[in-house]
Amino acid sequence: MTDKRETKNGNVGFAHGLTNYGDRDFSLYLRRSFAQSMGYSRAMLEKPVVGIAYTPSGFNNCHRHFPELLDAVKRGVLSSGALPIEFPTISLGEVFLSPTSLKFRNLMSMDTEEMIRAQPMDAVVLMGGCDKTVPAQLMGAVSAGLPSIMLIGGPMMTGRHKGERLGACTDCRRFWAQYRAGKVDDEEISTVEGRLATTAGTCAVMGTASTMACLAEALGMILPGTAAIPAVHADRLRAAEATGLAAVKLIGSKITPDRIVNEKSVENALRVLLALGGSTNAIIHLTAIAGRAGVNVSLPRLNELSDTTPVLVNLKPVGNGYMEDFYAAGGMGALLRELKDLLHLDVLTVTGETLGQRLETDDDEWVDRTIISARATPLEPQGGLVALFGNLAPRGAILKRSAADSNLFEHEGRAVVFTSLADLAARVDDPALDIAAHDIMVLQNAGPNAPECMPEAGYLPIPKKLAQAGVKDMIRVSDARMSGTAFGTIVLHVTPDAASGGPLGLVRTGDRIRISVKNKTIDLLVDEAELKARAAANPFVAAQKPTRGYAKLYADQVLGADEGCDFGFLRGAEPKKERA
Ligand code: FES
Repeated sequence: MTDKRETKNGNVGFAHGLTNYGDRDFSLYLRRSFAQSMGYSRAMLEKPVVGIAYTPSGFNNCHRHFPELLDAVKRGVLSSGALPIEFPTISLGEVFLSPTSLKFRNLMSMDTEEMIRAQPMDAVVLMGGCDKTVPAQLMGAVSAGLPSIMLIGGPMMTGRHKGERLGACTDCRRFWAQYRAGKVDDEEISTVEGRLATTAGTCAVMGTASTMACLAEALGMILPGTAAIPAVHADRLRAAEATGLAAVKLIGSKITPDRIVNEKSVENALRVLLALGGSTNAIIHLTAIAGRAGVNVSLPRLNELSDTTPVLVNLKPVGNGYMEDFYAAGGMGALLRELKDLLHLDVLTVTGETLGQRLETDDDEWVDRTIISARATPLEPQGGLVALFGNLAPRGAILKRSAADSNLFEHEGRAVVFTSLADLAARVDDPALDIAAHDIMVLQNAGPNAPECMPEAGYLPIPKKLAQAGVKDMIRVSDARMSGTAFGTIVLHVTPDAASGGPLGLVRTGDRIRISVKNKTIDLLVDEAELKARAAANPFVAAQKPTRGYAKLYADQVLGADEGCDFGFLRGAEPKKERA
């Protein structure tokens, strides 16, 4: 029997994916009845639905302005003839999560994917901003395969301290290093604490959140020119309204995230990452997003692209500016135009245009060359990130060369090993620690398989006695990550990690390590026989895994950094099914 009261539009909006009571008509009747309890008129319930994955949280300062953005998205959706309905997913506020937000990125991606699948909607707006939220939502949306568009929350504005601009969080680290070195006192550090993060929005520099926003635009998943708009700017609200409108246009189209994210668009995103001098975390996240579409990101390919992509964007931590400057300088449009001949221009974006069509339209725009360099005068001739390989990192490690001291690029030094984060905390400031500036600090057991789940601990503090003597940088090697806002000659993501039996775990204090950025190598200068003897004397035993809950799922399933730290069962494209 056909329900004569079924929506005029057929299988759209609330008629999607009915709850199964064994009687389809009853299910639809019941759903509409309950929806009417929320005050919707019958006419509204006939409309197609744009779901809005909505992620404000009292534990996420970066999303503080999301209620206002939501109103603007809804305005755009309603004015285009669809019904906007927001739904919550978990939200990840970077500094409020323990042991680290990365542990929960995959959980948020699963929440996003399953709520898109399970609830009745025809298209989705993903509202994200803080570090892990953008990759989590993109991963979930690629896996769900429904037409989707992302709205970025936007970066914070800078604060001021004694006439100097401050932005989270490169300046947080700079002041903290001065405090540790005794150059800033207790009173001043506490004043600075109140001036680092002064508006809604994400960290103000080219950290992980800003990098991921720019990569979302390079992939084609957000509206052109919207990655860098400050969170509190009226343009951000206009972008939100336009995003709602664009979501309605996507309804019924084949422009889905799993089609937008493909080999070519991922390569474009890698180019942009390198030209930005962007966050090392982004390589993990992009690998995870691409992996959901069945696209593999290879680190040797990253090196090829890095050798032919200049750094063009002068923002902290690599340069001097802040995200508000990047937006005012011309933003992503200007950068993409500079990179045009290096990009695949035939890739589809969420507006239905190809990247090439987008870039045809805005050729004459003014660009501030103090922030976005021309190709002829780059900040650095080669890309910001480089992958190193060798017997210490058989599956690769990452160095952000644009944020490192080039005097340390060809270096051999004595390893000073910390076996865990606890060991590091206990000994790094010990005046008796045997360490000199040319030594190489090594941190073990801080990778994805460690109990701390790969925290941003790779920016090992310079031992206090060396910091007080004026040492500002040393080579530091670990299987951990580093905040996108940090700087220094820091080798990260050593894979396989020590906690899964990788060779990093065999390093002992006094060993020699050689790093060559020119040759893209990192080697432990200890002969094979000695390494085998060490392994035999102390056979690797994995730490006891959690026995229940999400912690168990994470420990059982997490992959290495070279596979984006995704879960094994979430990677790969699924054959597309028509929606019920
Ligand atoms: Fe949210 Fe930095 S804390 S982006």
